[in-house]
Amino acid sequence: MSGNLILSDLTTLAMPETFLRVQPPADALSVEQISFSYPNGHRVFSAFSLSAAPGEFVAILGPSGCGKSTLLNLLSGFVQPQAGQIRLNQATVSPERSELGYVFQAPQLFPWLTALENVRFGLRMAADLSESQQRERALQYLRLVGLEQAAQRLPHQLSGGMQQRVSLARTLALEPEVLLMDEPFAALDAISRNHMNEETLRIWAELGQTVLFITHDIDEAVFLADRVIVLNIAPGGIHSELKIQLPRPRSNLKTRRLPAFLDYRNELMERISQVMALSEARVSPSLSRVLETESIL
Ligand SMILES: Nc1ncnc2c1ncn2[C@@H]1O[C@H](COP(=O)(O)OP(=O)(O)OP(=O)(O)O)[C@@H](O)[C@H]1O
Ligand SMILES: [Mg+2]
Repeated sequence: MSGNLILSDLTTLAMPETFLRVQPPADALSVEQISFSYPNGHRVFSAFSLSAAPGEFVAILGPSGCGKSTLLNLLSGFVQPQAGQIRLNQATVSPERSELGYVFQAPQLFPWLTALENVRFGLRMAADLSESQQRERALQYLRLVGLEQAAQRLPHQLSGGMQQRVSLARTLALEPEVLLMDEPFAALDAISRNHMNEETLRIWAELGQTVLFITHDIDEAVFLADRVIVLNIAPGGIHSELKIQLPRPRSNLKTRRLPAFLDYRNELMERISQVMALSEARVSPSLSRVLETESIL
């Protein structure tokens, strides 16, 4: 008899019912109804929720001051919400959880350490590896970001884009499941930024982490993400979400000229202008009256 398991066999196995049901994969990251105010009383989130599926690339787009960095600080567990819960792989977040990796706007490299030693630095703190294993892993991730040849250079001998790639390699070397990126390419010129966007997708396709990518840049959000979340000015929460169904793999040359890319871009520009109009209305009652008569509010 063949080894195939047929349905009647299943009924004879004493399996719990939950094994037989098809379960959707649990969210890698979930923010449930959080409220957060700074100690001076400034409220940034009120009953705010969002989630990311395993391996999903989520971009968060919002104007300055809407709470993007605050959200990342909450996700890290360094700052606690006053209400609600934040879970990473279904467990409450805390600063000690190594499943989370950060890439910030500034590369924040140690100027006296080579690229290799900068990448190895985090491994010395966090991973249980011998010195030669640390070097091997650091080199592996420098290779992944295309900087193996620059391993012995100091940060001041690297371009801004290269420094940001070292910073990315340092975070990736810790092999986090969820990557939080706070405008990581905002300081780069447009050409380097487009190149880093492509590199980010190449690396993401290889490693498959869940990514939460914060940006002010609509094109960047459309190019990278599976889903874009548009935030209102604090404490307005989520304005709207847009699924980006552009084919992958995406490339600067092909993807950015697709008619659908331009449609997504225009749609998001419209939504951001709505967010800006609403925030202006909040500070300017006369504009608010204009918007009301135009049925925007
Ligand atoms: N320590 C703090 N105490 C009080 N208010 C703060 C503090 N840090 C930030 N804020 C306020 O909270 C709001 C959200 O700040 P946050 O830095 O999260 O915005 P952001 O969306 O990251 O902005 P940007 O795009 O400019 O980086 C802003 O109004 C800001 O002024
Ligand atoms: Mg910020």
